[in-house]
This record gives sequence, structure tokens and C-alpha cells, in this order.
Amino acid sequence: MKKSIPQQVNAFSVDERDAVYRAIFERRDVRRDFLSKRIPQATLQRILKASHHAGSVGFMQPWDFLVIREKDTKQKVKQLFTLANDEASKRYRGAKGTLYRGLKLEGIEEAPINLCVTCTRQRGGPNVLGRSTIRETDLYSTCCAIQNLWLAARAEGIGIGWVSILDYDALKNLVGIPRPVKLVAYLCMGYVKEFSSNPDLEKAGWRKRLPLEQLVHYESWGRKNGNGTLKKVKNG
Ligand SMILES: Cc1cc2nc3c(=O)[nH]c(=O)nc-3n(C[C@H](O)[C@H](O)[C@H](O)COP(=O)(O)O)c2cc1C
Repeated sequence: MKKSIPQQVNAFSVDERDAVYRAIFERRDVRRDFLSKRIPQATLQRILKASHHAGSVGFMQPWDFLVIREKDTKQKVKQLFTLANDEASKRYRGAKGTLYRGLKLEGIEEAPINLCVTCTRQRGGPNVLGRSTIRETDLYSTCCAIQNLWLAARAEGIGIGWVSILDYDALKNLVGIPRPVKLVAYLCMGYVKEFSSNPDLEKAGWRKRLPLEQLVHYESWGRKNGNGTLKKVKNG
């Protein structure tokens, strides 16, 4: 019999639980070394279905997915990236600037599929259950869908790279996204030979993962009593 979490209806087996954590810890932002192998429609469909099963405020499901395979479109998006990235790189000087310019921050043309994930903020009418106090919850919902997509893709052996260094208004014009629809993410996706064990930015020496203890507070902000001691953290 499979081992599972005791006394729970529909419990995950230990292996299933571990598989979920594996997808989480081995998910990576990928923007290099995409294989040219085609993503079968059935696989794409599974990934999009996982995305579509994310939670959303008022069950609004504000997302749409625009699948781009055409080379010509990718080339035009790459031009938008180059413009935006040249601008962004001016923010970094000296050694940091040199490091920035050495980073690979997109895989637009190499990836077999590029995907726009949008948020239609008007979906469900003016009164969306749960959104009256925090208008951005529809955007949060779309990010939940993107995370589902990212994890499902990892389980399929497909890498995803999120490209935000783009003029999203110009991009919307290019692919015909209507004005009121918010473009939340532009993603590059494709099979990859391997997933790196650490984020690219960490490997490049850009930034390290923060210690979790630094980010967990108990009962009130800054209170660190996980091990029975009280300690205030600086720069909270
Ligand atoms: C909202 C968002 C936007 C991002 N935009 C970019 C981007 O434009 N270019 C890039 O190389 N990575 C981008 N990333 C990827 C992050 O750099 C990456 O998630 C982070 O370094 C941690 O690495 P990991 O995703 O492999 O764990 C983005 C990630 C998120 C969540």
C-alpha cells in the first residue's frame, strides 16, 4: 500500500507530495538552451489547463493566453526587448553595469513558443466578489495562473522564461491585444536539456536567495520567536 498522510480524505501519497515539492524547488526561469523540439498541442493544452485552474478573486478567471509561434512576430518582440534592455542597462554603472550587460535576460527567438498572459479586468462586470477593497486582486489572480503554468511546465520538462524588459504597450499593439486588457506576462517556453539547480541571477553573482528566517515574523512585524527567543530584525 502507498504511504500517505494519515487520516485525510484524498490524501497525497508521500511520493505525490514529494513530486509537488520537486516541481516547486526545481522550477527555474529559463532563457537559454531551448531545444527546437515542438511542444505537442496536447502538452500545451495540459499546461494551459493547469494555469486555468488557478484560484481567482470571485472566481473571475480574468486570464487569456495568446500563443505565438511565428518567427516574424518573435523577431519584432526581440527588437522591442533590445530597445528596452539598452535603456535598462543605463541604470547600472561600473562593475554592476558590466555584469548586467553579460546577463541573458530573454529567450524570445530561441523558444518554440512565446506566450502572452493577460488580465481582462472588466470580466465578470463591475462588481467582482472580493475585489471591492483591493482592485489589484484580479492581477494577483493572473499571477497565480502564471505560477501554475510555470510549475506544470516544469513537470513536463518545459522551461519558461518571463520577459518583462519590454514596452508592453508596443507589444500589445504588435499582437493586437485590446487596449483595456492588461498584459501581465510575456513568456518564452520550450523543452530544455536541463534545469539549473540555482537561479541564473544567483549563479551570475547578481543576488542571493535571502534566508527564510529573515522573512518570517510571528504575531507582529519583526518578532522572531520561531525558536523561543524574541529578536527584532533590522531593515524590516
Ligand atoms: C514578474 C517577473 C518578471 C521577470 N522578468 C524577467 C526578465 O525580464 N528577464 C529575466 O531574465 N528574468 C525575469 N524574471 C525571472 C527572475 O529573474 C527569476 O525568477 C529569479 O531570478 C529567480 O530565478 P528562478 O525563477 O529560476 O528561481 C522575472 C520573474 C518574474 C516573477
